[in-house]
Amino acid sequence: MDRGKFIVFEGIDGSGKGTQINLLVEEMKRQGRTVYQTAEPTNSVTGGILRDALGGFTDRTAYEMSAMFLLDRIFHNSNKINGIKQFLERGIDVVCDRYYYSSFAYQGIDADLKWVMDMNLNCKEILKPDLCIFLDIDSQSSDERIAKNRLEREIYEKKEMQERIRKRFLEVFGILKDSENVKIVDASRSIGEVSGDIIKIYNEFKGEV
Ligand code: TMP
Repeated sequence: MDRGKFIVFEGIDGSGKGTQINLLVEEMKRQGRTVYQTAEPTNSVTGGILRDALGGFTDRTAYEMSAMFLLDRIFHNSNKINGIKQFLERGIDVVCDRYYYSSFAYQGIDADLKWVMDMNLNCKEILKPDLCIFLDIDSQSSDERIAKNRLEREIYEKKEMQERIRKRFLEVFGILKDSENVKIVDASRSIGEVSGDIIKIYNEFKGEV
């Protein structure tokens, strides 16, 4: 049996990941694939501590956040019940909302970027995605979407911060261009246009692997 494919979505907050993930998963299932949809932070104990910090209920340094996202990610990969690794080994595709690229872009601003990258990329229990789709949107547009859809904001959901995070994402994809398979999609367009591009990228990716 072939190993499943591991696909990750990234983007600043309000970039439309949730909508686009649902549309891609629907298409993959239509094509006959079995898909497990997941997200980070997970529902682990560490994920709960992270949610608390993201909501602003507790203060954590960028180093603490990096280490907790790492721990949550190891659990996300390796746990025997719904871990990414065991699904892939069973031939099931995994589509994940955020992964280590988010740690690089969000924590890699206040914590040392190289340290954050090294501990994720050199960890044998953290799998490398087969494909990362980055939904690229300017912080003004994403901010308008956040304002429309949420009653409260998480600690990173401020416009100036989101602009820095977006720049960090693009910088990191430059650093990783020879080792990671990242596709950047202009997410400022209509849902249908963005989804059309993503499905095209997916079909090409399937043809390559
Ligand atoms: P979301 O569920 O709205 O995507 O929220 C997750 C938040 O967690 C989002 O603001 C990005 C942040 N995050 C990090 O800062 N580092 C990480 O490694 C991950 C996976 C998420």
